[in-house]
Amino acid sequence: MAWQLEEAITYYGKQGAPGDQSALIALLGEIQQENGGGIPVAAVEETAKAYGVKESLLLALIKRVPRLRLADTHCLEICCGPNCGRKTELAEVAQRLCGSKVTVKQMPCMRLCGKGPNIKWDGKLYHQADETLLRRLLKD
Ligand code: FES
Repeated sequence: MAWQLEEAITYYGKQGAPGDQSALIALLGEIQQENGGGIPVAAVEETAKAYGVKESLLLALIKRVPRLRLADTHCLEICCGPNCGRKTELAEVAQRLCGSKVTVKQMPCMRLCGKGPNIKWDGKLYHQADETLLRRLLKD
């Protein structure tokens, strides 16, 4: 039987979504898995409508949870740990440079402090990141 968004919404509704954020996050993860690794904006809209919540709530969850991402967007994870965060203002630069096609997530220490500042672009780790690297990644 093919996966259906409506059925998933009903199932996770019985698990406590949208009030229980862990159920909502599990639903978003399943939507992402069933859609090739990205959550379609249409699915966000349908889920928000079905649960009677604002789309901004779901988008905020997608932004907050590292493994979630919108479809057709890049994911930029910036280490904002005590060492990387002090070396650069990458998070601010990224917010300025990145449009709606990039989900920017501020992450805790990636445990590679000696090679920082560290970022991940679509899951690939980059060391000694700076504004030049961000511009190159956005251009490619
Ligand atoms: S603070 Fe960035 S890797 Fe530790």
